[in-house]
Amino acid sequence: MKNVTRIDKAVFPVAGLGTRFLPATKAMPKEMLPVVDKPLVQYAVEEAYEAGLRHMVFVTGRSKRAIEDHFDTSPELEAELEAAGKTELLELVRSIAPADMACSFVRQPRALGLGHAVLCAAPIVGQEPFAVLLPDDLMSGPQGGAGVLAQMVRQFERTPTCILAVQEVPREHVRRYGIVAGEPAGERLTRVSRMVEKPEPDAAPSRMGVAGRYVLTPAVFEMIRTNPRGAGGEIQLTDGIARLIEAEGVHAYRYEGRRYDCGSKEGFLQATVDFALKDPQLGPGFRDYLKNLAL
Ligand code: UTP
Repeated sequence: MKNVTRIDKAVFPVAGLGTRFLPATKAMPKEMLPVVDKPLVQYAVEEAYEAGLRHMVFVTGRSKRAIEDHFDTSPELEAELEAAGKTELLELVRSIAPADMACSFVRQPRALGLGHAVLCAAPIVGQEPFAVLLPDDLMSGPQGGAGVLAQMVRQFERTPTCILAVQEVPREHVRRYGIVAGEPAGERLTRVSRMVEKPEPDAAPSRMGVAGRYVLTPAVFEMIRTNPRGAGGEIQLTDGIARLIEAEGVHAYRYEGRRYDCGSKEGFLQATVDFALKDPQLGPGFRDYLKNLAL
């Protein structure tokens, strides 16, 4: 019998316009912005791979060719590195797409919203549970511990419903998030009873904000498909998931680790500084540099 709790596919919606990062994102996908030396989308793919997922599904749009090229082989570059005996760099380039990892690409013809982007992946995902990772949310798991998606996949095996990654957010920031509320169902778990996209602080049912990691059941596709447009005239993922609260149950999981909102300049800079400090080669020198800044 097919194991219904096994998750193999990760969907990466990367078709957004990235307007908060203009002009950098005019011709370049924001998901290719590097934190230290690795593009955001690669961090997200590595997180999915670490969680045991092997089929990566990218929902792309115009000006996103660089993402496809990044996860493809690069015969000329590999031949050059091989001829020059640069084996470490060769391994580094090859490790971007390990042999047991499959990549699929589907286009979102117009940026109609995150829900619509996820729906574009439906023909590839089929009737299986799957994960969604927003690469501009860079997640850093606890030191030496499991990554955020791996924690969520583990939770899904215990409670095979939609699982949303949540964190407590400041009251003045609730309008930037999908906000959930519900009953405690475990140390890190809440059984969701309400979900609202980008509420005003006075209308927010809690301060539990959804971060860009989801484990979803395939029933969500039908819910998105039959839902009217939501906040901002966009087809919202939150609205589709909210309709599953009654039908199947939805859980919010308070993940262990830290999120950097790399879709914003501030979050991107924080990630750059923290990741540079953690880097074994760069870290010590960079720390000295920061210490000597006249702040
Ligand atoms: P954001 O709203 O953060 O991304 O969507 P954006 O629209 O690219 O950025 P700004 O606000 O204009 O700067 C969250 C995620 O959903 C994807 C984005 O690529 C991002 O990963 N997305 C959003 C789509 O793939 N399609 C859409 O229609 C909207």
